Amino acid sequence: MTKRLDGRVAVITGAGSGIGLATAKRFAAEGAKVVCVDLDPESGAKAANEVDGLFIQADVTDEAAVIAMYQQAVDHYGSLDIAFNNAGISPPEDDSILTTGLEAWKRVQEVNLTSVYLCCKYAIPHMQRQGKGSIINTASFVAVMGAATSQISYSASKGGVLAMSRELGVQFAREGIRINALCPGPVNTPLLQELFAKDPERAARRLVHIPLGRFAEPSEIAAAVAFLASDDSSFMTANTFLVDGGISGA
Ligand code: NAI
Repeated sequence: MTKRLDGRVAVITGAGSGIGLATAKRFAAEGAKVVCVDLDPESGAKAANEVDGLFIQADVTDEAAVIAMYQQAVDHYGSLDIAFNNAGISPPEDDSILTTGLEAWKRVQEVNLTSVYLCCKYAIPHMQRQGKGSIINTASFVAVMGAATSQISYSASKGGVLAMSRELGVQFAREGIRINALCPGPVNTPLLQELFAKDPERAARRLVHIPLGRFAEPSEIAAAVAFLASDDSSFMTANTFLVDGGISGA
């Protein structure tokens, strides 16, 4: 494998599972020094161990913890070149506008959207000092199209991530900082399995709408993140990067 990320320092949130874990492995294979951030101490530490990286236990909704995690990454490895702001949670069981309560709504916005605001806010100054950096924020295909299954709090949070990424991408382009939104389609991870456990027919309903006829594997999303993190995407910023099996094009 070509080492497109040789020597670069990458901080990945939600690195203990699913897309974050697959990306930690891909980044390490491409030569990056990987900082694995997760709320869960066991899976996060295991991920860091697998990629010979640094584990930081942090709740990405906690402002002080986000400030500290980037500082710790820079203190340990000397720079911050890539921030993959990826931690997130699935929607509440019945996420219709008519049934989702205010507390459940606020929780989804906090973990999926406010966390990305905090991660961008505190990663960007490190990158400004270096005059370069690549930020990838995980949104979702539901940020660009309506989902057949109600998930209003989740879709709104991901729409916010997409809008924020575009705006920041434009704002910081002249400082050498690229900021893109990654929009995966349905990916075979614990998050998706949790949704299907709540509603077993959801999987079949989803598959009908995916032209490639299957769910993505986390490694397929990680390959796209590695591209966005690397210089191979050097002319891309403020972009909506869909990796969705064709679901948004159908
Ligand atoms: P996952 O559930 O497998 O992994 C998420 C990780 O984030 C877990 O390790 C969890 O401990 C961590 N996490 C959750 N809250 C946290 C917090 N407050 N602070 C720090 N870490 C926290 O999920 P998956 O599927 O890998 O999802 C990753 C991202 O991709 C999420 O933002 C999700 O919304 C998004 N996404 C997932 C899709 C899918 O079909 N799996 C499709 C489109 C987007």
